Amino acid sequence: MKRQPRSNPRPHSGKTRRTVSIIGTGSYVPEKRLTNADLTKMVDTSDEWITVRTGIKERRVAAKDETTSDMASKAALNALEQAKVKPEDVDLILVATATPDMLFPATACFVQKKIAAKNAACLDVSAACAGFLFGIEIAQQFITSHTHDTVLVIGAEKLTSITNWTDRNTCVLFGDGAGAAVLQHRGGAHGVISTHIGSDGRFTDILFMPGGGSRCPITRDNVDMNLATIHMTGKEVYKQAVTAMVNASRKVLADAGLTADDIACVIPHQANLRIIEAIADRLKIPLDRFYVNLDKYGNTSAAAVAIALDEANCSGRIKHGDYVLMVVFGGGLTWASTIIEW
Ligand code: ACO
Repeated sequence: MKRQPRSNPRPHSGKTRRTVSIIGTGSYVPEKRLTNADLTKMVDTSDEWITVRTGIKERRVAAKDETTSDMASKAALNALEQAKVKPEDVDLILVATATPDMLFPATACFVQKKIAAKNAACLDVSAACAGFLFGIEIAQQFITSHTHDTVLVIGAEKLTSITNWTDRNTCVLFGDGAGAAVLQHRGGAHGVISTHIGSDGRFTDILFMPGGGSRCPITRDNVDMNLATIHMTGKEVYKQAVTAMVNASRKVLADAGLTADDIACVIPHQANLRIIEAIADRLKIPLDRFYVNLDKYGNTSAAAVAIALDEANCSGRIKHGDYVLMVVFGGGLTWASTIIEW
């Protein structure tokens, strides 16, 4: 279908609006695999329970001394190589993560040092699992406003460092990894068509890590009470995730003047296969048009959609001219959606 122009084009500066394209992607996952069978030796669970409820078969676990910025840097260098961009030509590095190397400085600063992107400004994006698409939106705004030309957006997580390995409700879900994208203005129609980000702070208490911040600083007692680990009300998260991701998808489709039939590939947040099936059903997009890799990696939060995008790109699953819908959801609550003409 020929795309109809948007009825509500975004406001922009007096300068010509620029099309923003993803010109390179990259990813990295640690070598160590933790299978469902391995988890049965750690908590009272089974391969069947995990597979049926989540679709996850295994996840990757970073080495003890492997940090979020180590993984982020490897994904970033892959993306820069594909984009044929030198690290020193990057203007801005955004790292989306819920597991920064430290509370400060920003993990993006560690990445800057590791990849020698000496001319970049660096900041982290805190939007939990939705962070990578928040990063894409921020990158787009900086590029369309002519503030920056080349932006590196990374989603990276070492969730195994904040996992409570005695809590079967959560420890089976998460894994480690990183994905990255290089964004630039490139002439022509191809690029980011429509974006949406949103949040609902009324639900800060259904998916969170209570310890480690100013409200509940790190003390021996707090650590003993497992407060520096992920806390989640699974059923409520499930409900909110489906509603938010369906609404966010509909919003960018409408803004882009597209229908669900036009979408060649959906790259959703990789949390849970049942969530993805529910979204496919409500959007009336066949499940085989969704890119799914959560069986291999579990939920890698901000890294998930970034790794999936790189895999879909490198495997030829998404092709030049395809309309690609990315949609994510995370703690906060936060959600985001983006349609790209690839
Ligand atoms: N193995 C075996 N049994 C388990 C496990 C496990 N790993 N975990 C929980 N159970 C048990 C529970 O204790 C409960 O037992 P009970 O009935 O005796 O009390 C039973 O299984 C059912 O538990 P529920 O929590 O009701 O299971 P549910 O069907 O809701 O599935 C799940 C849990 C998979 C977490 C689901 O709620 C879900 O998918 N939620 C979305 C959460 C999510 O994806 N979070 C990721 C982070 S958010 C994000 O990235 C968007």
